[in-house]
Amino acid sequence: MADRLKVDLSGAPQTMLATFYAKVLDAGLPRPILGDQLARQIAERIDYDWSATSITAARSPAVTTRSAHFDRWTAQFLAVHPEAVVLHLGCGLDGRFFRLRPGPGVQWYDIDYPEVAQLRKRLYPSAERCHVLAASVTDADWLRDIPADRPTLMLGEGLTMYLTERDGLELLRRVVDGFPSGELQFDAFNTLGIKSQWTNTVVRRSGARLHWAINGPDDIRTAVPGTRLLAWVSPFDTPEFGRVGPAYRLLAKVMSSVPALRYMAQYHRYAF
Ligand SMILES: C[S@@+](CC[C@H](N)C(=O)[O-])C[C@H]1O[C@@H](n2cnc3c(N)ncnc32)[C@H](O)[C@@H]1O
Repeated sequence: MADRLKVDLSGAPQTMLATFYAKVLDAGLPRPILGDQLARQIAERIDYDWSATSITAARSPAVTTRSAHFDRWTAQFLAVHPEAVVLHLGCGLDGRFFRLRPGPGVQWYDIDYPEVAQLRKRLYPSAERCHVLAASVTDADWLRDIPADRPTLMLGEGLTMYLTERDGLELLRRVVDGFPSGELQFDAFNTLGIKSQWTNTVVRRSGARLHWAINGPDDIRTAVPGTRLLAWVSPFDTPEFGRVGPAYRLLAKVMSSVPALRYMAQYHRYAF
């Protein structure tokens, strides 16, 4: 295809090519977990050596079970709050808005670094009520443009580990203080996950650094006043993980027997 977009990213922005490609491969499987066909169409318009991501179809459930999980939590929030704001932070090329198709009362904001936001704007169809913002999520300025009069979901999938603890906690406090009510939903790595980042090929190849270790809900509750824990789970204990093949199930069984491995990755959900 002659008009394919050449993509050249590094650091944290590059990592979203791996998570995106996992969704592309998943969509081609006979029994997909996420089934995001739009991701597949969009990938055809990108000129990139996808083998550089190190992602294979066999590895894709590590990403797609997480995305399917956050699709479910987001849909639950929107079912209760049809007039809401969604802050989809560090969105990369994820097409959650198009997978969930939220109702007419929802204002959706996809936010990522300028190089990712620009790519996103060129590749995804524009949609009324789906806004793409080019900013670092740790910058306070972009929040000033968001309507602050409705329940607000702050969702960060594959994001917190790239932030420093100080920046991450400031971001959470800013959202809790800036909106009347809502939820914080995000995944995190514990100390072991951060210390063993050199084993993560996606992170290593991008040259990105992981910083913020979250070891449980107390790390958030004590540091972000006004939050109430709704859920804290290991990926292995989610219904989405029940859909993976035998090799991943065996890995999960082994890892689940050691707490530091069971909670190496974690999903957090708070109300405020
Ligand atoms: C692992 S990717 C996840 C992408 C997407 N959420 C997904 O699950 O497919 C991490 C994303 O976080 C973004 N990111 C990391 N730090 C950020 C920051 N300070 N501001 C905005 N985006 C950030 C990166 O640019 C990248 O798109």
